[in-house]
Order: sequence, then structure tokens, then C-alpha cells
Amino acid sequence: MQTNTSEYFYELETIESYSNGLLDLINSTKFWFQKNNLHIIKVENIFFNDSILSTLIERFNGTPLIFKLPPNIWYDWHTDENRLCAINMLILGNRSHCFFGERENRDIVKTRELTYNSNRYYLLNTQKKHAVLNFEEPRYVLSVGFAGTHDYFTVLQFCKDNKL
Ligand SMILES: [Fe+2]
Repeated sequence: MQTNTSEYFYELETIESYSNGLLDLINSTKFWFQKNNLHIIKVENIFFNDSILSTLIERFNGTPLIFKLPPNIWYDWHTDENRLCAINMLILGNRSHCFFGERENRDIVKTRELTYNSNRYYLLNTQKKHAVLNFEEPRYVLSVGFAGTHDYFTVLQFCKDNKL
């Protein structure tokens, strides 16, 4: 695995400003859709009015979701099924860790951690193997998935070109 992480994830320049709104949404939502151990809600596009996310959602047909991962979970190595890449922001979950990794042999997976800085967006190459380790608190992530032909490098170039 290369030391350079740019083929796995990329920190956008933009700083977001509506964490509190997302927390309100989390706290007021009664029904969460469940898939594996993930609890999921859809965030209406209108929530992101006039933000850079609305630009990306419109341009690349993004689907904004909030994922809740319960405490004490190792979410095993996988690639995402229905999306090629995603833009994530950690809403809550200080003691949680997201890794990209490549298996060397039976015992060793070489890893790079994606360390989430608060209020920052990260573009993730979800076609690369990744995993999440969550400790004692529920972990909440805003995740806008992109499918179709919109792969990681296409969205990455757009973000760089537009200084997002
Ligand atoms: Fe994933």
C-alpha cells in the first residue's frame, strides 16, 4: 500500500457549518432503516441548500444518508455495493476509526487510517477495501454516495478544479 493516500481518500477544502442541524435530525428521527448493522436515514436534498454538497449532489446525482453504527462494532473489510465513491463527514463518534487496507497475506493487512477532522468533508474511494472500528458510543456519519459512472477520480477532479 502506498504512503500516499490520495487514491483512497481526499480531504476537501470546504468547512461545513450545519452539524447542529444534522444532530437535530438524528435526535428527532424515530424510524431508521436497517441494513446489516447499519441504521440509515435519508437526508432531504433541500437540507443542503446553497452548500457545496448541493452542487455535488446535483452534478453527480448523489444520495445523502446518515449512517449510525452501534457501539463496539468492527465493520469488516468491504467495498460498497451501490456506489463508487462517497463524501463523508463524521457527525459524532470520537472513538471510532476508519481504515483503508490491502491484504498482504493471511495475517497482515496494510492500512491507512482516515482521521476525520471535525466539520470537514472527505471523498472516499469506496471501491477500495475499507473497514470501521467503533468503540463505546454510537457513530454517526453523513455520507453522500455517488453511483453510475461517477467514480472516485471523476469526483476528485471536480472537487480540485472547483476548489471545493
Ligand atoms: Fe463502506
